[in-house]
Amino acid sequence: MTMTIFDKFQRLAEARQELEQGCDNFLNIVMQQIVSGTEAVVNGRPVILAGSNNYLGLSFDADCIDAACNAARKEGTGTTGSRMANGTFSGHVALERELADFFNRQGAIVFSTGYVANLAMLSTLVGPGEIILLDADCHASIYDGCRMGGAEVHRFRHNDAQDLEKRLRRLEKRNTNVLIVVEGLYSMLGDRAPLADVVAVKEKFGAYLLVDEAHSLGVLGANGRGLAEEAGVEDGVDFVVGTFSKSLGAIGGFCVSNHPELNLVRYASRPYVFTASSSPSVIASTRKALEIMQTRSELRQRLWDNADKLYKKLKELDFSLGPEQSPIIAVRLEDKAEAFALWSGLLEHGVYVNLVLPPATPDGNCLLRSSVSAAHTPQQMEHICRAFTAVRELTAVAQTA
Ligand SMILES: Cc1ncc(COP(=O)(O)O)c(C=O)c1O
Repeated sequence: MTMTIFDKFQRLAEARQELEQGCDNFLNIVMQQIVSGTEAVVNGRPVILAGSNNYLGLSFDADCIDAACNAARKEGTGTTGSRMANGTFSGHVALERELADFFNRQGAIVFSTGYVANLAMLSTLVGPGEIILLDADCHASIYDGCRMGGAEVHRFRHNDAQDLEKRLRRLEKRNTNVLIVVEGLYSMLGDRAPLADVVAVKEKFGAYLLVDEAHSLGVLGANGRGLAEEAGVEDGVDFVVGTFSKSLGAIGGFCVSNHPELNLVRYASRPYVFTASSSPSVIASTRKALEIMQTRSELRQRLWDNADKLYKKLKELDFSLGPEQSPIIAVRLEDKAEAFALWSGLLEHGVYVNLVLPPATPDGNCLLRSSVSAAHTPQQMEHICRAFTAVRELTAVAQTA
């Protein structure tokens, strides 16, 4: 019998088939028409988007769109080159200055995506003979960056600063550099890292700390600088990584730091050197979004009002939710069939949320991961709440039937 390179996909094909039998739309969702930052047409049906990471609703901001269109007209649709070659335009440099100023840091690097930012930073900052200690629930891009760099990787229990300290004490005698990695808001359950405690431990052991503020930029802190600002520990964070694909409504990633050596990462980092830089339109809309984020704090207020409303409603409906309130509101369900039923039911009621299944979830449960936006109107929030009420009744009926 001859073997093919595709044999190993057999299990994947079976898993896919099983998913399609359980929930026929799940793997084939196409946003057929995007109507606004909060509305689309899916399977021919208008839906409210309640699973996007468009926290400040800026993906359809008129000024951001104008900035993007003007840049495309002036500078073309793509840079067609790496940051190290012909792909650094004046917009990339200006955005780096603006990010550094916003975070009150000496320097910044802009990368092509948030994924690439983590890949670049983690594979470059630490390498063989050095140690990374990361929260077990960190994003895949952080894990992939660790693997790429070849440092020794240890995980500590999610959001457990005592476990972090215990592991650091064990590693102390190794007498090598240690980089601790946590996230601001965790993407699946929307819970915050215990950052003040993490910083205290880091300082005790003379380690370095990188915080991925992907979901907390524009969301947390009086000025939207993320969890480090909210917790009052910005000075204790060596490197802040983030993305433009959430609150800033575009695509791209960055790292800011006060360590002057940050600039040298450019030359040592394959994910910086060996990929094309962001297109002029993306850079222009991101710069405008960063400006809006700093001048229109009412967007953050509206985001939190909407988060409050949905969280309270889902609590009232007695859903099992993540441990704390944030714009990421995840319903935890043990049973896959129930998760499929609720997700399909929400879609039928005109609401799209993300269905996340193990092993992509942190605790082995299925998740209906919803996230709210400053752009959701009061009527849309009512609609979302009504849809959850309807599907809750649906499952109660299904269970007793
Ligand atoms: C914590 C975290 N870091 C990094 C990323 C990657 O960002 P991007 O999708 O912009 O590449 C994500 C994406 O969801 C994320 O949740």
